[in-house]
Amino acid sequence: MDISGNTVLITGGSSGIGLAMARALLDAGSQVIVCARREERLLEAREKHPGLHVKVCDVASERQRSELVEWVVTGFGALNVLVNNAGVQRDIDFTKGIAEFLAGENELRINLEAPILLSGLFVPHLTGKKGAAIVNVSSGLGFVPAAKMPVYCASKAGVHAFSMALRHQILPLGIKVFEVVPPAVDTDLNPQGRAARGGFKANLGATEFVAAVMKGLADDHYEIGYGMTEGFLRASRADLDRSFQQMNSRW
Ligand SMILES: NC(=O)c1ccc[n+]([C@@H]2O[C@H](COP(=O)([O-])OP(=O)(O)OC[C@H]3O[C@@H](n4cnc5c(N)ncnc54)[C@H](OP(=O)(O)O)[C@@H]3O)[C@@H](O)[C@H]2O)c1
Repeated sequence: MDISGNTVLITGGSSGIGLAMARALLDAGSQVIVCARREERLLEAREKHPGLHVKVCDVASERQRSELVEWVVTGFGALNVLVNNAGVQRDIDFTKGIAEFLAGENELRINLEAPILLSGLFVPHLTGKKGAAIVNVSSGLGFVPAAKMPVYCASKAGVHAFSMALRHQILPLGIKVFEVVPPAVDTDLNPQGRAARGGFKANLGATEFVAAVMKGLADDHYEIGYGMTEGFLRASRADLDRSFQQMNSRW
């Protein structure tokens, strides 16, 4: 896809990978709208990047999702790219039963259901638009799950399967579907889990990762990995099983 001259909505664009994508797309000459739940983080992002348009929205709320779609379609009729990036990650211990799952944010609604519903809501608007695309952010953990985060991994495996199926379905409408598969990137994701793993900090910064993503998008690579996840995209089942054993014996 041409990464310049688009009108792009990025969910979860107030920090981390989403904000780095917003910056890169602004620099490439696109109009960029970002949404997230915390207004102060959105305003901070807009202060640093005055070209940014911001909207408070919890993508897991049906009402707020509908309002977002209405607001974007009315105010930014040229919108031709949706980036489903908003996500949360939690460590959840099922040896204790259902309690931990119920006690926190619902990763299935935020990470999987929201991208599915937003895609469906925006398809009619994207149809016929030049350079139309949906970019879904999954995770290496959707290919090689980490036992400490079972629901997160399931949500991201779902994003992968949905992206493959949606790509096949809506390409005839002229809408390209990309999947971005990040490895561990240094962001605000799952601060409690990272602290529990001794303050784990990824070596890869969001800006460096997103530079590779932009190249992948420009080259029309429908599945974009980086480092370890580039390997996952080409791995055999035996390779993936080996990675699973390695990862889960460490943590
Ligand atoms: N960092 C990694 O190592 C890594 C690896 C693989 C995949 N990913 C994926 O990359 C994506 C971006 O994560 P990140 O690492 O950049 O984390 P991050 O820095 O925590 O950013 C997450 C963004 O999503 C927003 N968000 C979370 N829940 C939301 C909701 N219900 N509605 C609207 N916005 C919401 C957050 O803002 P608010 O909290 O204010 O809403 C924030 O803007 C996620 O899908 C994540 O799963 C990250």
